[in-house]
Amino acid sequence: MSCKLDKSDMVAVEAHEVSYRYPDGTVGVRRASICVRSGERVVILGPNGSGKSTLLMLLDGLLQPESGYVKIFGVRLTKRNARMLRRNIGYVFQDADDMLFCATVREDLEYGPAQLDIPREEALERIKELTELFSLDEVLEKPPFRLSGGEKKRAAIAAVLSVRPRILLVDEPTANMDAESKNTLISFLNFLNAEHKITLITTTQDVEIAPQLATRIYIMGRNKETVAEGSVKEMLTDEKLLEANGLEAPCIVRLFKKLGYKNCPLTIEEAFSALSK
Ligand SMILES: Nc1ncnc2c1ncn2[C@@H]1O[C@H](COP(=O)(O)OP(=O)(O)OP(=O)(O)O)[C@@H](O)[C@H]1O
Ligand SMILES: [Mg+2]
Repeated sequence: MSCKLDKSDMVAVEAHEVSYRYPDGTVGVRRASICVRSGERVVILGPNGSGKSTLLMLLDGLLQPESGYVKIFGVRLTKRNARMLRRNIGYVFQDADDMLFCATVREDLEYGPAQLDIPREEALERIKELTELFSLDEVLEKPPFRLSGGEKKRAAIAAVLSVRPRILLVDEPTANMDAESKNTLISFLNFLNAEHKITLITTTQDVEIAPQLATRIYIMGRNKETVAEGSVKEMLTDEKLLEANGLEAPCIVRLFKKLGYKNCPLTIEEAFSALSK
């Protein structure tokens, strides 16, 4: 799969046929390609073990591809420039425990700006804003390991945003979250994209939340390749494609297909409007 965007689009992230094998010989990803415009919202959807997290680590320069390349705003990522290019990228790991390592949440939020020599006053201002935005006041002085899963994820995202990245990579943003935390987090991510023009790339195996996080989807299959790309509607209504890659269509799509609808709704609102007609 090659980059299909128009030449005029400002491409924030491009991976071209990247492959990676872990030191023990396991293939992490195989010839994976994605291309994301600046300001876009894209979901990488795939079953467990299909290489979603590995691909994000390649995009962030934490891993170097065996073959293929990654470009950030048109500049090819190498071992030498990874540190500099990564300033554009905020990467929230699948497991927030891997990201919060300070004695308190406040120290974790202060860590990133301090690393980049951002003046103390400016850093404190940013942290105040993020604490409010992510409702973290009550946990600010707590050690991160005493936070709930959802709070940890919010704190991890806030820590990443404290360095003002232009691109946000979030691995499985809503895993293990209750409905309210899930909805709040999805709204935050969409707010950051809409108001702060942050390019948003998320991974998930949850077809139900994908329409809320993206306008475009890349599907990764069990063979660890990017096997398809298209609009949310195209990807999530293609039952054959989803099933062939260890996924299934959202509940609403399966129900409306059974009812004989050609143009299946994806959300409750769309379903309601289709049924009211
Ligand atoms: N550190 C590692 N060493 C060896 N193999 C690994 C390592 N990390 C991941 N893998 C393997 O790489 C492949 C891709 O894993 P990855 O974690 O990227 O998948 P994923 O799509 O993110 O899965 P999940 O939905 O479970 O998070 C899998 O076969 C996995 O077993
Ligand atoms: Mg993963």
